[in-house]
Amino acid sequence: MMNYKNKKIYVAGHNGMVGSAIMRALQKNGYENLITKSFTELDLRRQSDVEKFFRQEKPEIVIVAAAKVGGILANNTYRAEFIYDNLMIEANLIHASYLNNTEKIIFLGSSCIYPKLAPQPLKEEYLLSGYLEFTNEPYAIAKIAGIKLCENYFRQYGCNFISAMPTNLYGPNDNFDLQTSHVLPALIRKFHEAKTQELSSVTIWGTGKPLREFLYVDDLAEAIIFMMESIDAKNLYNLGITHLNVGSGKDISISDLANLVAQIIGFKGKIEYDLSKPDGTPRKLMDVSRINSLGWKYKTELEEGIKLTYEWFLKNSVKN
Ligand SMILES: NC(=O)c1ccc[n+]([C@@H]2O[C@H](COP(=O)([O-])OP(=O)(O)OC[C@H]3O[C@@H](n4cnc5c(N)ncnc54)[C@H](OP(=O)(O)O)[C@@H]3O)[C@@H](O)[C@H]2O)c1
Repeated sequence: MMNYKNKKIYVAGHNGMVGSAIMRALQKNGYENLITKSFTELDLRRQSDVEKFFRQEKPEIVIVAAAKVGGILANNTYRAEFIYDNLMIEANLIHASYLNNTEKIIFLGSSCIYPKLAPQPLKEEYLLSGYLEFTNEPYAIAKIAGIKLCENYFRQYGCNFISAMPTNLYGPNDNFDLQTSHVLPALIRKFHEAKTQELSSVTIWGTGKPLREFLYVDDLAEAIIFMMESIDAKNLYNLGITHLNVGSGKDISISDLANLVAQIIGFKGKIEYDLSKPDGTPRKLMDVSRINSLGWKYKTELEEGIKLTYEWFLKNSVKN
């Protein structure tokens, strides 16, 4: 295992949910040479600005946690922005890394890269084996392009650029805005508001039947450090895969999840389902056997993670 402790590490997107968890985990693990730039200081869609920053800073390791991210509604509404922003961010970061001899990139995508009707659980090799879910196709196409950038900068130039595909994440610094949020923070906010306003019922989007997998974001951050320290491009690409799945390997129905969140928050009213709203992909579960066999496994069970996230929400909800 290579010693990365003194390497200059640039975490792109450090203010986001994933980026901030990676920063916490790096600091906890003794990494001190960390560099960051907020969105207002550096817009990663601007190629010349990104290249100037890389020429000045020469980061040795780059973790790509900057992206335009959102739930079904945001993905389906801002389709052009989701494909344009994400393509530009990753292409600029990956090419600038190549130009400046960055030693390693960990690029983050998500489970939506897999075909809508791929067999479950999702194995790494199912990438590009069928049609994508329409609602988040622009985002998925951009993320697939990011994986392929890393793979082909390795194949042409030998760059040590690799990709991690996490399942649905949740935890501190999540987005709790109901217009743009993912399902778990949306449920936390809805049940919290229903409890404080003493409402008799809460309405959930869709049938409640889809199955989803969730990973606490601090566990993902540990997986990223594990990949940075222990997995090289040649090991991955020579195995015939382009990325590693990161998840718990366990799924839960949205209705069971809603009941669990309601119980943790202490909401005692009824849960109703709005069948006019889309369900999205029927089931999404990662096959995490590869990363498990390489040496990483999740630690935080869903119930504990939701409790920690609700505590964070209560302390920070003024900001949301
Ligand atoms: N959230 C999930 O459930 C999940 C699941 C799987 C994978 N992931 C992956 O994890 C990564 C990060 O997601 P996240 O949930 O942490 O999202 P997030 O909380 O929205 O954070 C994204 C970060 O990217 C920054 N950013 C966006 N556009 C930028 C631009 N043009 N220039 C510079 N910075 C920009 C944002 O800055 P501002 O804060 O200033 O806007 C933000 O700090 C994504 O690649 C995503 O695919 C997330």
